[in-house]
Amino acid sequence: MEVVILGTADDVARLAADRIAALVRRRPDAVLGLATGSSPTGIYAELARRVAGGELEMSGVRGFALDEYVGIPLDHPESYASVIAREVVGPLRLSPDRVRVPDGRAADLEAAAEDYDRAVAAAGGIDLQLLGIGANGHIGFNEPTSSFASRTRIKTLAPRTRADNARFFASPDEVPTHCLTQGLGTILEARELLLVAQGEAKAEAVAAAVEGPLTSMCPASALQLHRRAAVVVDEAAASALRLAAYYRHTYALKPEWQRP
Ligand code: F6R
Repeated sequence: MEVVILGTADDVARLAADRIAALVRRRPDAVLGLATGSSPTGIYAELARRVAGGELEMSGVRGFALDEYVGIPLDHPESYASVIAREVVGPLRLSPDRVRVPDGRAADLEAAAEDYDRAVAAAGGIDLQLLGIGANGHIGFNEPTSSFASRTRIKTLAPRTRADNARFFASPDEVPTHCLTQGLGTILEARELLLVAQGEAKAEAVAAAVEGPLTSMCPASALQLHRRAAVVVDEAAASALRLAAYYRHTYALKPEWQRP
């Protein structure tokens, strides 16, 4: 695993945007796995700035969102379909018909979940999966005790996750109780994983994922099983890492990770 510690959240956004931009230049029809929540917003804003400035063209990119709440109206501003449309598809000028979000309103949710994995496979798999991390170590909405072999499926949100996400809703009761999420097995099939985290509230989860044991109690520890996984964090999110000095040293010796 590559662990990259940078000074600020803006540095994290710029470096992650560099990685995505380099992939899209190499492969204009790249398949991106899209995270929602606050962690990737700076990355999307940075990519949008480059697209608006004519430096980057992303209209050929295909995208798959990581997850969606169950039962939330599609036009609710916090449905992930709305968030992806507002924060990603519009600003990055992606083609809406090339971006998919799990259907949390399907009458048959299990069929919708299987359908989603089939669509990812039909697109040739995900080239780069962007991830945030929950304070409880979740990735996607794979809450603690999620199977490392899990596929896209219905999950119950952990109380901690509902409390953390209450900031996006008018009241804590409004936060949905269930979701459809890509499974850990689905996520691990992406060709490259890029997890970003900012702020001290993520420090324990980041340390557990990177340096803790491989355990379903910290679903993000599954990244340890992937051949090309990078964790890009700011100083605050890195503050519980025991081997921080080693990661800084390694990063300094890796020219392919330095900004152009
Ligand atoms: C969002 C997702 C979640 C978030 C995580 C962190 O699509 O799958 O795993 O990445 O809950 O959320 P933020 O970024 O809001 O702290």
